[in-house]
Amino acid sequence: MMFENLTAPEADKILRLMAMFAADTRPDKVDLGVGVYRDPQGITPVMDAVRQAEVLIAARQRTKAYIGLAGDPAFARALGNLILSDTVPADRLATCATPGGTGAVRQVLEMTRRIAPDAVIWVPSPTWVNHNAIIGHLGQTARNYRYYDAATGGLDRGGMLADLAQAKAGDLVLLHGCCHNPTGADLSPDDWRAVGDMLEKTGAIPFIDIAYLGFAEGLEEDAFGTRHLAARLPEVLIAASCSKNFGLYRERVGLCMAVTTGPAPKEAAAGIMAHLNRQSYAFPPDHGARVVQVILDDPELREMWADELMLMRETMNLNRAVLAKALRDETGSNRFDFLGNQRGMFSLIGATPDQVEALRKDHGIYVVGDGRMNVAGLTTETIPKVARAVAHVLA
Ligand code: LMR
Repeated sequence: MMFENLTAPEADKILRLMAMFAADTRPDKVDLGVGVYRDPQGITPVMDAVRQAEVLIAARQRTKAYIGLAGDPAFARALGNLILSDTVPADRLATCATPGGTGAVRQVLEMTRRIAPDAVIWVPSPTWVNHNAIIGHLGQTARNYRYYDAATGGLDRGGMLADLAQAKAGDLVLLHGCCHNPTGADLSPDDWRAVGDMLEKTGAIPFIDIAYLGFAEGLEEDAFGTRHLAARLPEVLIAASCSKNFGLYRERVGLCMAVTTGPAPKEAAAGIMAHLNRQSYAFPPDHGARVVQVILDDPELREMWADELMLMRETMNLNRAVLAKALRDETGSNRFDFLGNQRGMFSLIGATPDQVEALRKDHGIYVVGDGRMNVAGLTTETIPKVARAVAHVLA
């Protein structure tokens, strides 16, 4: 029997936490685990621009017949342009739609395994749990590079550059485009330039996971690093997600992109991406990708979406500022001020696993086991309770 001796693989820490939260019957429980934005009412809304695009699609769409293995080229053009602007000529850019940003991460890694099985994947320490999990699943070799300095809540720039100097030509260097998950510590433009210098020197290839464009400073600012590397390096790999910035989580909208050296390598890269889609699930999902394309190609909807995105960003930043202030009041120290300075959904609050457990058990507050807090899950109502509990448990 196939399944009789099987032990189911353990879910990762984010998914385990989602299940525990769902099973918790305490009415005042607070979910600061999985990366989902909540508005000040605690709701993860369907954005108005998305709703309107869906109405347009329902009215206009005459068929749901297959499009192509790489998805709709209009979607790839629209999202590729949002991220890269005009930094890469179309005849160097291969693209392929995927189910979510995770699908794009998987396809970049699959592609690398096919072409360069011995390439080492350099990942920041720490990184999103599923990066290491997928690399391990594919039997690839991951190596950590120093990234986060817990003492300052910022980037360990010296450590990062020293470690990246060891990467070999053809290795991948995984970088978070903005809003680093789980630390909230990002590269400054100057840091991106230094990383670009290092990649030029070593010949390692950047692999940029960009899942939070528009969540840090703004659409243009957040694209800086990706555009900078795409403009100056011969080859760049990009995995993009629209889960968060379009609020399309369950629709699974992602795009895999490869900046190549010219038309022939571009065709080859596009070909292998489409082939890998075919082997995994054939055609990528279309609905969410179509929503994104309709929004980006319609000036009015695009403006509406950008305004809604700005509001989400401002809410997150306000949550950060209010939480940092509440923690200053609770602790009488500036220990948590870094929370106010970081950007995006996530920060590490510096809790041990036992403290994370105490927050959950004693206070109904759910943060991921490494102490990652989703600040986008806070509301003005929950911040005082969370600040009190964090100050108490981490005292
Ligand atoms: C997260 O990090 O919480 C999100 O990216 C959701 C996920 O798939 O883990």
